[in-house]
Amino acid sequence: MTDKTGQDRVLIFDTTLRDGEQSPGATMSHAEKLEIAELLDEMGVDIIEAGFPIASEGDFRAVKEIAERSRDAVICGLARANLQDIDRCWEAVRHAERPRIHTFIGTSPLHRDIPKLSKDEMAERIHETVTHARNLCDNVQWSPMDATRTEWDYLKRVVEIAIKAGATTINIPDTVGYTAPVESADLIRRLIAEVPGADEIVFATHCHNDLGMATANALAAVAGGARQIECTINGLGERAGNTALEEVVMALKVRNDIMPWSTGVDSTKIMNISRKVATVSGFPVQYNKAIVGKNAFAHESGIHQDGMLKNAETFEIMRPEDIGLASTSLVLGKHSGRAALRAKLEELGYKLAENQLKDVFVRFKELADRKKEVYDEDIVALMRAGEDAANDHLVIQSLRVVCGTGGPAEAELAMTVGGAEKQATARGDGPVDATFKAVREIWPNDARLELYQVHAVTEGTDAQATVSVRLEEEGNIATGQSADTDTVVASAKAYVNALNRLIVRRGRLGQDQKEISYKDVS
Ligand code: KIV
Ligand code: ZN
Repeated sequence: MTDKTGQDRVLIFDTTLRDGEQSPGATMSHAEKLEIAELLDEMGVDIIEAGFPIASEGDFRAVKEIAERSRDAVICGLARANLQDIDRCWEAVRHAERPRIHTFIGTSPLHRDIPKLSKDEMAERIHETVTHARNLCDNVQWSPMDATRTEWDYLKRVVEIAIKAGATTINIPDTVGYTAPVESADLIRRLIAEVPGADEIVFATHCHNDLGMATANALAAVAGGARQIECTINGLGERAGNTALEEVVMALKVRNDIMPWSTGVDSTKIMNISRKVATVSGFPVQYNKAIVGKNAFAHESGIHQDGMLKNAETFEIMRPEDIGLASTSLVLGKHSGRAALRAKLEELGYKLAENQLKDVFVRFKELADRKKEVYDEDIVALMRAGEDAANDHLVIQSLRVVCGTGGPAEAELAMTVGGAEKQATARGDGPVDATFKAVREIWPNDARLELYQVHAVTEGTDAQATVSVRLEEEGNIATGQSADTDTVVASAKAYVNALNRLIVRRGRLGQDQKEISYKDVS
């Protein structure tokens, strides 16, 4: 398939909702899955693997509803190599305008050993299951799981069987992230050259990141002839994750001179969906993650900042706007000068007169001496200091916690509720528990804590901790985040932040849950 310009088109198959959701702890709610599927469809992903219908009633419902709501994307469900799985999968995906059944079986010696199938017995099973899937649906994908550790002759044999049985896409998974780019390209090239019927179907690549080579392996497979890349947003997935969608899309865009293949993905939607997936999965994006990490468009050193202010191309190979970021983020630190501070303030919407800037610069330097890096939130907090407190209903005024060995922790909290100051003291099992109890003393609520996660931004005992808190109250979900060098303070602020969002939501009853998005959380 070629695009308008005659370039070969690579299909993007997103499996955030299936392989991504299999990451331990990354479970998403039904509503969140629907929302992510909608964003994927909107951004131009060709195929959405929406789940594993036989795995649970919830998975089935999600795949079915995503299929019913789908617009342009093919909706795919996963099924093991048995008739019951395949039937259940078809039940869920058949509601889509363009359904696909994806069935798989582990073909390497280690995986053949689990169901105790001989090579011949497994070959027969593949023939039977792919034929069954194809009788239900004219779009069938088949995967030999652990293909990269399967004997070459056997791999060739089973791929041929699956093609003859009617598979329209053959996916070659590097299930354990074991292959390397040269081998990945070679494997696809040889399959296309040697398997009868290979030129009639699409080859896909599905790479895990155990050795950090998932994206490189996927692109190499494309060089070898694969025309479908399986990937996830933020590289979410089992163990070290999968090929990241944002990485392949941007690599093909930025280096189209040496990788002349296009995708149908609108890259300007990347940042939004990356943030959404980070929020709903509870897996924050590492700061130095390619493309979507907080530092991917950030520059601290004076020389880099100076260069960036003169010509962004000096230190950036793509524009932040290309992934949907408003602009480059200059991370400020103690080496940053007044020009960088002014640029940052303007980026954040503050236009200051020279004397005001002088005053803020003094306060900024004091802060930069205490903190290694000064982030946007710090600058906003600096600007708001002295201003009338936030519009938030709940605002923490002070917090003191006593903890350690020899007794329960005790938190003493002062907080304003709608402007009125209240105080509470509470004991708990550790400082965070005591603090959350004190918040509930002042602001009683039934919100259920769904997630509490602490993420250290840097190393060392003075590291900033970013805390994420997710609360659920009568079906409404709100996430709060906060960063501080004091983990307990960050926890308290994140908790109160999430409560404030729930309060806003209550005032908007009747509106859809999806309004609470990551971009609101800072
Ligand atoms: O990694 C893998 O092998 C898979 C298959 C189910 C395609 O996710
Ligand atoms: Zn996988």
